[in-house]
Amino acid sequence: MKNKTSIQGTWASRWIFILAATGSAVGLGNIWKFPYITGENGGGAFVLVYLICIALVGLPIMMAEVFIGRRARKNPINALEDLAEESGQSKKWGIIGLMGMLAGIFIFSFYSVVAGWVLHYIKAMASGELANVSSEQAGALFNELLADPVTLLGWHTLFTIMVLAVVIAGVNKGLERATRIMMPALFFLLIALLGYAISTPGFSQGWDFMFHFDVSELSWDAVLVALGHSFFTLSLGMGTIMAYGSYMPKKASIGSTVLMVGALDTLVALVAGLAIFPIIFSNGMNPGAGPGLMFISLPVAFGQMAFGQFFGVLFFVLVGVAAWTSAISLLEPSVAFLVERFKLKRSTASIGLAILVWLLGIACLGSFNFMSDVTFFGKNTFDALDYLTTNIMLPLGGILIAIFAGWFVKDQFVKDEVQTSNIIHTCWKISVCVISPIAVSIVLLLNL
Ligand code: TRP
Repeated sequence: MKNKTSIQGTWASRWIFILAATGSAVGLGNIWKFPYITGENGGGAFVLVYLICIALVGLPIMMAEVFIGRRARKNPINALEDLAEESGQSKKWGIIGLMGMLAGIFIFSFYSVVAGWVLHYIKAMASGELANVSSEQAGALFNELLADPVTLLGWHTLFTIMVLAVVIAGVNKGLERATRIMMPALFFLLIALLGYAISTPGFSQGWDFMFHFDVSELSWDAVLVALGHSFFTLSLGMGTIMAYGSYMPKKASIGSTVLMVGALDTLVALVAGLAIFPIIFSNGMNPGAGPGLMFISLPVAFGQMAFGQFFGVLFFVLVGVAAWTSAISLLEPSVAFLVERFKLKRSTASIGLAILVWLLGIACLGSFNFMSDVTFFGKNTFDALDYLTTNIMLPLGGILIAIFAGWFVKDQFVKDEVQTSNIIHTCWKISVCVISPIAVSIVLLLNL
């Protein structure tokens, strides 16, 4: 058991694990979704609930996922089964991993469509097509893009191929190499953009909007959104972090590593908000504009600022890079599963999955045009898959993982693998055994 490693490979160091896990966590969730749901849910109070969810529920569940993955050194499904067996429990716990695979495939299908919008905007920004647009024109251009399935399909296809190219190359030659290059670039770009936002007149208004905590503005619905998002943004509840954990070097401490990843992810979301809202307010635009917030408001803002075209391209490249390193992690657990369980070649598994998510993605991009009248519970395919995964499957997967790790796995296994102080172990135990299951169940039930 001592020197077990995953057959997929092992990260070169603890830092690579931190960068890779942060690369997975930081994505469209932080830069596209977090600002727009914060805008829709009124700002500060929502941010506060989100931070509480990250600290009390997200980080402990992330520790549980890393622990399970690293102890078993296998893909999420086999890892759950092995650990259940070792603890004298039913192998049926592996079903959480299967549900996670499905969630990953669903998320990828709409994620790739939004990433495709981002790629389109890199091109539109760089070509000067968006120079000096008014908000009406920017809205019209966004809607024009949504109405054009062929263009959407082109970008969605390109993005899927970009992700496939990395996943197919494997953990060390693909994921690790991509991480080493892209993560530092991402931090650099974000800091440059924040510097710009600080210099705009709307900065203090943007700051107030995000950190003015007025709990009376909060609805149960907003709490569900905040909770679901805390799973989404940390890549929890579907096995991504378990798979990445299975490639983690033995020496690295799980507690401090997870804390680092959570802190970096939160920091990027807050910085993204602080970069976006001042630009919105400086230009007198509406923070509650929804999913189009980034794509409609920002081009207008960039059009009005000095060096706007340069910063605009920079910004969308940044978002594209973040989306890329995240999307990789949506496929990795399933690829590892297919390779380990069915002895498929990595290339066969990756290509097969890529084709599957690509096809499902077509239904998502069709939601805005040729398939707009196909609905599930009143939502188009795109919205339905987003809702189903973020608000139901991830929280459900997350609490099942928490309950499994807290109540069913032998405590000694956790102590051996995680090796933290008794105080941290006790806090972790309270969260996964009690706080997370109760809090998540209440929120899920209240919203049914
Ligand atoms: N966390 C990523 C984001 O914020 C998206 C993501 C990657 C994800 N892997 C995941 C979400 C696994 C849920 C589960 O954009």
